[in-house]
Amino acid sequence: MSTFLKIFLLSCISLSVWANEEVLNKVSLENDLKSIERGADTLMGACHSCHTLKYVHYRDLLNFGMDKQKVEAWRGDQSLDSALNAQMSETDAINMFGKAPPDLSLMVKAREGGPNYVYSYLLGYYQKPDGSTGNHFYPETKMPDILNSGGATEGAQHAEVQAQARDIVSFLTWVSDPHEAERLRLGYFVISYLIVLTTLLYFVKKQIWSKLN
Ligand code: HEC
Repeated sequence: MSTFLKIFLLSCISLSVWANEEVLNKVSLENDLKSIERGADTLMGACHSCHTLKYVHYRDLLNFGMDKQKVEAWRGDQSLDSALNAQMSETDAINMFGKAPPDLSLMVKAREGGPNYVYSYLLGYYQKPDGSTGNHFYPETKMPDILNSGGATEGAQHAEVQAQARDIVSFLTWVSDPHEAERLRLGYFVISYLIVLTTLLYFVKKQIWSKLN
């Protein structure tokens, strides 16, 4: 394939990705402990009744540094090693919504657009003229407008719902890759190690060559 053709195809792909992403609302995540903890708090109150997070255990939240009292309140009589299971059974949810609420552990990775998609979806509800609710990003969704984003059109109320959605997405992003921070730390360590090693080898080489000259 000619280079020109390759460049042309690549730019088509990136243009289409860009075009898809453009319709989504961009979320700028804080990704710090406080925002992730607030997200967990909202999720435990607003989403956990229907959704499971099977790859997250209460102990993971503690290990990450979340407030012990909060984690204790969230887990109730469940063990620390239990996953964040939905309060509603899957059969009940199917009976009620006609569809099982998906597990949210890897949701950010599973959807094109990642965090921007989940953020846009949560805020994408609107009131139709007939009084029912629609969603711009998933028109046929069976999930009700949990955060009441369709009703929150006033300034302060709207900002509050946006902040809630942003924190939930921060939490779900951390959940989908909890070891990212660890990998970053390890990466810095490995690079510093390689710099030190290269410097040492340089001096060793210099010394050996000075003897040979
Ligand atoms: C009353 C039950 C219920 C609650 C509470 C609930 N959901 Fe859902 N959720 C559903 C159902 C049912 C679906 C499946 C929708 C579909 O595919 O039509 C769903 C789907 C989703 C999806 C996937 C959408 C997609 O693209 O497939 C995400 C993300 C999601 N919910 C996030 C949340 C978050 C975050 C909260 C809390 C703010 C929440 N949900 C609260 C029932 C619920």
